[in-house]
Amino acid sequence: QADVFTYDPGFTSTAACESAITYIDGDKGELLYRGYPIEQLAAKSHFLEACYLLLFGELPTKAEMVDFEHRVTNHTMVHEQMHNFFRGFRRDSHPMATMVGVVGAMSAFYHDSLDINDPWQREVAAIRMIAKLPTIAAMAYKYSVGQPFVYPKNSLNYAGNFLHMCFAVPAEDYVVNPILSKAMDRIMMLHADHEQNASTSTVRLAGSSGANPFACIAAGIACLWGPAHGGANQACLEMLREIGTVDRIPEYIARAKDKDDPFRLMGFGHRVYKNFDPRATVMKESADEVLELMGIHNNPTLQVAKELERIALEDDYFISKKLYPNVDFYSGIILDAMGFPTSMFTPIFALSRTVGWISQWREMIADPTQKIGRPRQLYIGKAHRDYVPVANR
Ligand code: SDX
Repeated sequence: QADVFTYDPGFTSTAACESAITYIDGDKGELLYRGYPIEQLAAKSHFLEACYLLLFGELPTKAEMVDFEHRVTNHTMVHEQMHNFFRGFRRDSHPMATMVGVVGAMSAFYHDSLDINDPWQREVAAIRMIAKLPTIAAMAYKYSVGQPFVYPKNSLNYAGNFLHMCFAVPAEDYVVNPILSKAMDRIMMLHADHEQNASTSTVRLAGSSGANPFACIAAGIACLWGPAHGGANQACLEMLREIGTVDRIPEYIARAKDKDDPFRLMGFGHRVYKNFDPRATVMKESADEVLELMGIHNNPTLQVAKELERIALEDDYFISKKLYPNVDFYSGIILDAMGFPTSMFTPIFALSRTVGWISQWREMIADPTQKIGRPRQLYIGKAHRDYVPVANR
């Protein structure tokens, strides 16, 4: 297989950008991070190693991994003054609202000392972002449940630290369950990057103007929040809960097929994957593992999900529309079993995707030929006409 891809001229003329980071083949259900299949990385690697791979293009040596992990771990705390931003939000604010606000506010704390024209400082900003997003997401969760913020612990791995910051309370010790930590690490891995999806394109477009990376990531978080994109994991679990029992599935299948009904099966379909989303396959295996461990393998929501998938995959409409479960179909079931409220599902997607966003931002900024983005439009409005004074209207 060729080391690099060559495209037909027709494709190159319509592509939004060139990138060497992630490759998707929607027909084959293939997802490669820097050439490595997601199935192999999910089975043999871990999230921070995938972060190194996405950022720098190669798998790290042992020494490079130790250094990278040290640099990330030692930047997991946020400036103490940033705690104040949370208190400006209503207690019942959606954690995505606080994440958009607080990550944007990082511009005021870490941007002033940052020259994005300096490759080293771009690397520092990227590592700060990867390090601090779990802390900010955990703080958004703690604020939403009225519990005190929990500081990161350098003795824990990346995924375990996030679980600790979310679920530890001062009143008692919290021990990170290694199986849940591995499942969380796998969820982060599966969400790390995904080519030019809507939120990544948002980050690239914002970055193309020279905006600072913290503001660009905040824009990406805002875009990800939508239910057609990253908000689908929350919407999917809420849909599965609303269905409730397998006997009600046909009613929802019918609604999804009804052109006059705006309802869509959440967690199904994809703009690119027209066979299957390889991430959904790995996520489904994780769901079985975690629920088995938690002793809730007969979880009604999982039963509804599996039966819904079985029925939909045999249904002519879904087959004709090439609709298959996507990454969001099973992720919510795992996160729910871990104890997260549905409002935390998209923040977890956002903290996982931060490495993809920032890697693509770095790739774009490093390209000396890149220009400010300017998507074209097809004008369908009125032709030129002269002003009419109000007396004559
Ligand atoms: C993510 O781009 C990425 O890479 C995104 C993502 C990432 O990692 O960044 O993979 C993450 O966003 C995954 C998608 C999560 N969203 C959902 O699960 C929400 C439900 N899915 C749909 O909203 C929809 O499938 C989209 C938004 C994902 C894709 O929308 P498209 O591009 O309009 O879907 P399509 O062109 O493939 O649709 C083909 C047809 C359409 O019918 P017609 O107009 O041809 O008659 O299938 C229908 C759609 O109406 N359809 C669905 C459906 N998804 C598409 N019908 C019922 N239920 C669905 N879920």
